[in-house]
Amino acid sequence: MEAKERIIVALDVATIEEAKRLAIQLYPYVGGFKIGLELITSEGGPEVVRHLDDVCGRFYFAGMWEGNPSQIFYDGKFMDISNTVAGAARAVTRLGVKMFNVHCLGGVKMMSAAKKAAEEEASLRKTPRPLILGVTLLTSLDYKALRELRLIEDFSYADPVEQREAEKKILQRKVVELALVAQEAGLDGVIASAQEIELIRKWSQPRFLIVTPAIRPVWAVADDQKRIDTPSAAIKAGADYLVIGRPITQPPKEIGGPIEAVKKIIEEIESVL
Ligand code: C5P
Repeated sequence: MEAKERIIVALDVATIEEAKRLAIQLYPYVGGFKIGLELITSEGGPEVVRHLDDVCGRFYFAGMWEGNPSQIFYDGKFMDISNTVAGAARAVTRLGVKMFNVHCLGGVKMMSAAKKAAEEEASLRKTPRPLILGVTLLTSLDYKALRELRLIEDFSYADPVEQREAEKKILQRKVVELALVAQEAGLDGVIASAQEIELIRKWSQPRFLIVTPAIRPVWAVADDQKRIDTPSAAIKAGADYLVIGRPITQPPKEIGGPIEAVKKIIEEIESVL
């Protein structure tokens, strides 16, 4: 995969207008656009996809997709009973998106149902099946949050450094375990932070996809992201795709606009490919 194809821009905006403005500028330089809950909920998923497809030169004509392949990662994070998620998977497959995601914590049956439904719908419509990614543990959930939910066992060390290390390890182990369960359930890959890539790569099959958010080039500000990594470090660790939002959509003034920012990131990725 070329450097530019690996970049997925997070369109974390509230309106189709804003999303289109960014997509028109960035379309020639990236491999995709992630649309998430804010945009989908405020404007309607199918409507957003239609407008972005239009920008990317893709259209539905006489029962067939024509033009360029889809560039859309539909970040709907589905989690519900299997029957409902299967319905959502069929619906998102009809939109012809490139990829979408489900929560691994919805269970093996739910993940398999999503895959089966997407496969059936894609073959019915003679379109490629979207890639399906698992969300392992949200990175906003730390050890304390998982303890509150009673999802991991309690332990305490007298030494706070030892305690922090143990907490980090147990979280990493959970993420890797969930990623492997997602693989067994037939998903194509997972969303994983840079810290988890190497371990997942070590245990998963070679073609298992890893999509990594919380990416910050050295010239960008961290914003609210805590466990960040540079584009080159994430690619070197084994990420297939990088989800990058603000460093591209709101770059520091001295870098220029979104196009200059994305070109710098492409150069950085190319340096390690
Ligand atoms: O602007 P920024 O580069 O931080 O955007 C990252 C995108 O990736 C956002 O859409 C965010 O919701 C998403 N994401 C994340 N961390 C995760 C999963 C998704 O930052 N663990």
